[in-house]
Amino acid sequence: MNKATRAAVIAGNWKMNKTPSEASVLVSAIAERAAGKDGCRVVLCVPYVDIPAAVEAARGTNVKIGAENVHFKESGAYTGEISAAMLVECGVEYVIVGHSERRQYFGETNETVNLRAKAGLAAGLKVIICVGEVLEERQSGITSEIVSMQTKLALAGITPEELENVIIAYEPVWAIGTGLTATPEQADEVCGIIRSVVAGLYGEDKAMALTVQYGGSMNDKNAAELLSKVNVDGGLIGGASLKPDAFGSIIDAAQ
Ligand code: PGA
Repeated sequence: MNKATRAAVIAGNWKMNKTPSEASVLVSAIAERAAGKDGCRVVLCVPYVDIPAAVEAARGTNVKIGAENVHFKESGAYTGEISAAMLVECGVEYVIVGHSERRQYFGETNETVNLRAKAGLAAGLKVIICVGEVLEERQSGITSEIVSMQTKLALAGITPEELENVIIAYEPVWAIGTGLTATPEQADEVCGIIRSVVAGLYGEDKAMALTVQYGGSMNDKNAAELLSKVNVDGGLIGGASLKPDAFGSIIDAAQ
């Protein structure tokens, strides 16, 4: 299996932006741009409270709705948290886990990323696991070690069958929201490293079938070149996913 047969996934990560009424408008605008673009899967990961409005606006379109996080317990005394079953019942199909902002600001660890991924998979969600090095790690020449470690720990205990519902997003932390993008060569190299780690854990066939996204200041200008790389199967897009035209152009580039 090669790039041509892997699912290209263009996913937006809205972060803490848009109220429910704004979400309806934005999902509809993006769905219009995504109509008939069957060369990639289009996913919008939105704030929890936007989910019902987003699911409603996406109904009958080729846009799927995701969440930005999920708790790892099925239920219980975890004030402020949301379970995978709650997301599924609301019509959510995807969930992001381990985003660097969660790791940086909310105490997310490799262990909790793994637990969240397993909870999402157990509930039938498709899970986008984020990995990526910070600037000092890149400058110290340990990007490969960091990303390999994060990938292995995130996948601990995940079965080969469950892996079919996993997407890994390589997001160099220094490129997120900064306007600094990894070069297409850097993105390709690290996405390739992730694929070889997965090959070591699950075998070559599973690794070749895995969708590996790049994320970090992907936009309408740089998407085509990034997505042309052999190991880059899609994008996880923050800022540009809030702009229908820019996001639409990224969808076009993935066709
Ligand atoms: P950005 O965010 O596209 O705004 O850099 C990407 C992300 O955080 O997933």
